[in-house]
Amino acid sequence: MFSYIQQIPELTKATVWMKDSKRVEHILKSIKESGINTLQVISDFDMTLTRFAHNGKRCPTSHNILDSSKLISETGQAELKNLLNTYYPIEVDSTRSIEEKLPFMVEWWTKAHALLIEQKIRKDQLTAAVKESDAMLREGFQLFFDHLHQHSIPLLIFSAGIGDILEEVIRQEGFFHPNIKVFSNYMDFDESGVLQDFKGELIHVYNKREGALLNSGHFQELKSRHNVLLLGDSLGDLTMADGVQDLQNILKIGYLNDKVEEGKQSYLDSYDIVLERDETMDVPNAILQYLTSAQ
Ligand code: C5P
Ligand code: MG
Repeated sequence: MFSYIQQIPELTKATVWMKDSKRVEHILKSIKESGINTLQVISDFDMTLTRFAHNGKRCPTSHNILDSSKLISETGQAELKNLLNTYYPIEVDSTRSIEEKLPFMVEWWTKAHALLIEQKIRKDQLTAAVKESDAMLREGFQLFFDHLHQHSIPLLIFSAGIGDILEEVIRQEGFFHPNIKVFSNYMDFDESGVLQDFKGELIHVYNKREGALLNSGHFQELKSRHNVLLLGDSLGDLTMADGVQDLQNILKIGYLNDKVEEGKQSYLDSYDIVLERDETMDVPNAILQYLTSAQ
């Protein structure tokens, strides 16, 4: 047993998988030696900071919060559900390459956003929609957000979901601290406050690299932070740190929520630490505790 595992006993949880634990040890030690002022955290939102399931029931993504809310007509809800049933299986299909999936993802997001725009959603209705939803951040999220804030570690939330909704989820919990920055799909409201479009370039689950490169100003501001802790749940999340300048060390933690048996090998090949059906922030929290502790 390695010494760092004694300091991070959470890594021995039955849900934790590592292809190369020596490599994990090496990355952790290098980041710790560099000091926390060299660290930035980049995290996906849906199904990474939020729970995948609770009491056997699927939890909503930021899109699903809207899709199943009172703001959407019954036919609109049925159409959005249809899209989910058509495209989600493609998103998580481990037999298809990312290149094969790309056009389908663009189609899904484009159709879903067009349907949302048809619904004439008002900005002032979003708070209630989030309040009435089953959105749930992962167990231990309070410690995660507070710890990063207390140590002035920048947190980039990089989401192919809906920025306005995910911000509202975190704000309603009272944890939208000033060290948080969000790259996501933001709604564009007309002067009367009605949704008329989405702003900027579309971010879907497999084009985060392009999104990262478009936001070079953010990474320029953080140019002294060469070490990254990356949290994701999709293989598409692995490119979220592609804009980081002079990257030295990156530790990638992947939540494997769905299609576990089929996905395990590819997750192990690409994420340093794989968390299988783990609905908590225990491992990221323990790692942050290790990295920020004095010894
Ligand atoms: O925050 P994150 O990047 O994970 O958000 C993307 C997730 O939102 C995808 O994993 C996808 O399953 C989900 N999604 C959805 N409804 C849509 C589009 C995407 O639930 N219309
Ligand atoms: Mg996700």
